[in-house]
Formats: sequence, structure tokens, C-alpha cells
Amino acid sequence: MSVFVILGVLVCMEAAGSTDVKTLFVQTGKDVLLEIMDPDAVKDYILLAWRVKKKDNDPEYLVSFSPVDGPDVPENYSKTVFPQANFSVILKNVQKADRGLYDAQLTTRSGQRILVTYNITVLDPVSPVKLTVEPVSSSPDSCNVTVSCTTDDYTISSTLTCTHQTCTNQGHNSEITPSAASLHIYLSDDSITCNHSNQVNWTTALAPINLFCFNNPGPQCVCADVTILRVKIAVFSVGLVVMVSAVISVHFMKTPKKREQPPTSQGK
Ligand SMILES: *[C@@H]1O[C@H](CO)[C@@H](O)[C@H](O)[C@H]1NC(C)=O
Ligand SMILES: *[C@@H]1O[C@H](CO)[C@@H](O)[C@H](O)[C@H]1NC(C)=O
Ligand SMILES: *[C@@H]1O[C@H](CO)[C@@H](O)[C@H](O)[C@H]1NC(C)=O
Ligand SMILES: *[C@@H]1O[C@H](CO)[C@@H](O)[C@H](O)[C@H]1NC(C)=O
Ligand SMILES: *[C@@H]1O[C@H](CO)[C@@H](O)[C@H](O)[C@H]1NC(C)=O
Ligand SMILES: *[C@@H]1O[C@H](CO)[C@@H](O)[C@H](O)[C@H]1NC(C)=O
Repeated sequence: MSVFVILGVLVCMEAAGSTDVKTLFVQTGKDVLLEIMDPDAVKDYILLAWRVKKKDNDPEYLVSFSPVDGPDVPENYSKTVFPQANFSVILKNVQKADRGLYDAQLTTRSGQRILVTYNITVLDPVSPVKLTVEPVSSSPDSCNVTVSCTTDDYTISSTLTCTHQTCTNQGHNSEITPSAASLHIYLSDDSITCNHSNQVNWTTALAPINLFCFNNPGPQCVCADVTILRVKIAVFSVGLVVMVSAVISVHFMKTPKKREQPPTSQGK
């Protein structure tokens, strides 16, 4: 009876409990840890509850920790909500429908307050990108090409002016796609890269610059195979290392050095 009276008073005291909202972006299917950063705050508690508020619905209880009964997870969350000993909770295999505001509501004798609120957004990894280069015009020592980077729902294009050595970019080259990812074309020393990224994931396609104008007349797709490029670089690096070590070992063989003996406990 007296407990109900106390709780009634406590609910009224909750009002001013505005805490920082931590924004979290989680990749679909991943797990996320919701933490009470200061476990000391959970001393002499009556109840600690993690709740979720999805859209405008009332909050649902994910887990209630009580000093008497330990953590209690409702049946329908038993496969996804895993309470930890330090009052944190792990949400497993997060799906898009799980987006919402998650908070930890602490009830003590002296009141009720929100310890932390997480704003969780669930995002799919970005789709692969395809980089296409089409010559527009050319003169003996420069050319213009249009570079297009395509995702499954958007294309961004950029015009480059290239010489034999280098390209420069004309105009803006970064946009937000309908799925709220960002698509960015940029030049580096020897290649052009398209980066498709969101808060949880990114993927790129790239094409070497020196092939753009002069070796490849006519439209073509250089759907850059990053893997092949990486393999080439790896093979090249290995070759280089082997050559360098061969040179070094030949050099050092001329001035043979005594192999060091392992230290022994004898002597001194
Ligand atoms: C709480 O426990 C989890 C493991 O169960 C750990 O990963 C996390 O760092 C802990 N958090 C704090 C604030 O102690
Ligand atoms: C889980 O069950 C509670 C009642 O025990 C209900 O209010 C809530 O909507 C259910 N949530 C889901 C995701 O099914
Ligand atoms: C939660 O985060 C999303 C993405 O940043 C934002 O659009 C939304 O307004 C936030 N909601 C609240 C209640 O802070
Ligand atoms: C490339 O485009 C720029 C700007 O539109 C133009 O000034 C230049 O003449 C073009 N170059 C060639 C080789 O067509
Ligand atoms: C792609 O963009 C993301 C987000 O801005 C960044 O973290 C990542 O390093 C970029 N990748 C490359 C290869 O530039
Ligand atoms: C993006 O997501 C894909 C699919 O889950 C994964 O294979 C890839 O490693 C991720 N890339 C990054 C940079 O996190």
C-alpha cells in the first residue's frame, strides 16, 4: 500500500528529467550495448527499467531490474534483450522496426529520473557502386570526361578535365541519395574514387586516371574492381619486398656477420 503512495509521488517528480540524448546508428542485424555509465547512480534503487518508445507509442518495458528479483525481461523480448550485471543491456540482431528512443528509468525512494536516453537509428549497409567514365571531348593534350557513380537508387556525375598526368574536377561532387547515404566523387594522385557511405558502412569503386582519355577512345565502363586492384598492388608489393631483401642479403653476404648466440646462464 505504502509503495503505491510513494510511486504516485515519484511519477509527479519525473517531469524535469531532461537528459542528453545519445544518437546511435546501428547496422541492421548487429548488436548494440546500452550502458549506464555511472553504476553508482543505481544505489539503493527500487527499480531500474530500460524502456523503448517507438514513434508516438507509449513506452514499452524491455527489462526491469529490481534488487529483490533481479532482471526481468518480458517474454516477447527474451530473444533480443540481454540484461548485463552492471545494469547495461545488449540488444541483439537489431532490425529497422527497432528504431526509437531507449531510456533507463531509475526509481529510488527520493524520486524517479531518466539516467540516459539513446536515439537509435537502424541502417542497412550501403549498396555497391559502379564507376563509369565517358569521354566528352579532347584536344591533343587534354580531354574532358564525365565520371558517373551509380548506386541502386541514384547517380552522381562529375566532369573532369584531364591531361596526360593529372585530372581536375569541375563543380561539386558530393550528394545525398534518396536513402540518405552520401555519394562522393574525389580525385587522388593517380585515381578517381567514388565513395558511397552512411553512418554504419561505406563502399568504394575506383578507376586509375591515366587510362581516361588517351588510351581508351569511346564510351566504356571501368566498373573498377577494387579486389583485382588490391591483388595487383599486393603482388607488386610482395615482388618489391622480395627484390629488396634479395639485394640486401646479397649485400650483407659480402660482409658475413657472426650469428648471435642465445644468451646462456654460464660465463661472466
Ligand atoms: C557493462 O558490462 C558490459 C558487459 O556485460 C561491458 O561491455 C560494459 O563495458 C560495462 N559497462 C560499464 C559502464 O561498466
Ligand atoms: C510485448 O508485450 C507487451 C505486453 O506484455 C506489449 O505491450 C508490447 O507491445 C509487446 N511488444 C512487442 C514488440 O510485441
Ligand atoms: C533521432 O535521430 C534521428 C537521426 O539522426 C533524427 O532524425 C531524429 O530527429 C532523432 N530523434 C530524436 C527524438 O532526437
Ligand atoms: C573541357 O571543358 C572546359 C570547360 O567546359 C573547356 O573550357 C575546355 O575547352 C574543354 N576541353 C576540351 C579538350 O574539350
Ligand atoms: C569513405 O567515406 C567514409 C565516410 O566518410 C570514410 O569513413 C571512409 O574512410 C571513406 N573511404 C575511403 C576509401 O576513402
Ligand atoms: C559494409 O557492409 C558490408 C556488408 O555487411 C560488409 O561486407 C563490409 O565489410 C562493410 N564495410 C565497411 C567499411 O564497414
